[in-house]
Amino acid sequence: MNSTVSAPAKIILLGEHAVVYGQPSLAIPFSTLRSYARIIPSESIVGLEIVAADLGNPELVVNKFSPRLDHPLTRAAWVLLDFLDCDPPNVKIVLHSDIPIASGMGSGAAITTCLFRALLYVLNKSINDDQLNSLVYEVEKIHHGTPSGVDNTVIVFEKPIYFVRGEPIEKLEFKRSFTLLVGNTGIEASTKVAVSDVRKLYDSDKLSTEDRLIKIGQLVQAGRKSLEDGNLSSLGRIMVENHQLLRDLTVSSDALDALVNAAIKSGALGAKLSGGGRGGNMIALVSDECIVPVKNALYEAGATHVFQTVVGH
Ligand code: PMV
Repeated sequence: MNSTVSAPAKIILLGEHAVVYGQPSLAIPFSTLRSYARIIPSESIVGLEIVAADLGNPELVVNKFSPRLDHPLTRAAWVLLDFLDCDPPNVKIVLHSDIPIASGMGSGAAITTCLFRALLYVLNKSINDDQLNSLVYEVEKIHHGTPSGVDNTVIVFEKPIYFVRGEPIEKLEFKRSFTLLVGNTGIEASTKVAVSDVRKLYDSDKLSTEDRLIKIGQLVQAGRKSLEDGNLSSLGRIMVENHQLLRDLTVSSDALDALVNAAIKSGALGAKLSGGGRGGNMIALVSDECIVPVKNALYEAGATHVFQTVVGH
């Protein structure tokens, strides 16, 4: 029983920021970037040993006698163990993640998801994905206060979702798969600051800000239709319009604009910033022929990393 389980990253395709004001958004799994949990059985281990060296954490031991609240991973493990009414199993779980931390790609939810999958496997328990999703959401709440629930849902189901705050999350099926590139600016930016700057804009100029937020919501609905119809050129145009509106909301940056422009110039069907903005990531929708030129153009325009994935199959 030396097994590995995993969970993907997530990315916002359309609708960030406007989603805070009740507009819809679309988020998708980014399956080529993942977190992993390797299960290593051992006769000599008493309790659950979690090793997460490349997450900057020391080795943790969870047993009946260890404090419950001393580490986020320990707290996460207890959320599942309490739900199952089980003691920590005698096993070592080694966590590893390729997902950039604090970059809006859902690394926290992905790590919790694979830790839970590993524990369920070891304990020989099965729960359905709805239950798993609720439990991962419990952990997200411990770490993030009042998260929207987008990250855990996309990651647990590994499916695209359509999301409106306060409404049930809808899972989507797309007619055609498509390739996305994620270009990382290498610039750390606070989503919290960007969200609060949009709020200031909203308070100082409600009319035109609201107009932009509503337009973003309409683009999300049009984008959903394009995806359901398999119309990628239309989706690309929608992404570009969405980026322009995010620029108007002041959440783009020179670095993000440079990457978006480079992607479009080198043949991407569409491109936009993704997530909180100001730094972090942008995404480009690419047909097979332009994957290489767009990747090269992104690096030339300053991307520190470019990740590629296929969405929708
Ligand atoms: O950077 P991410 O993927 O965590 O996304 C932030 C999305 C915002 O709409 C800007 C904020 C939010 O809470 O929805």
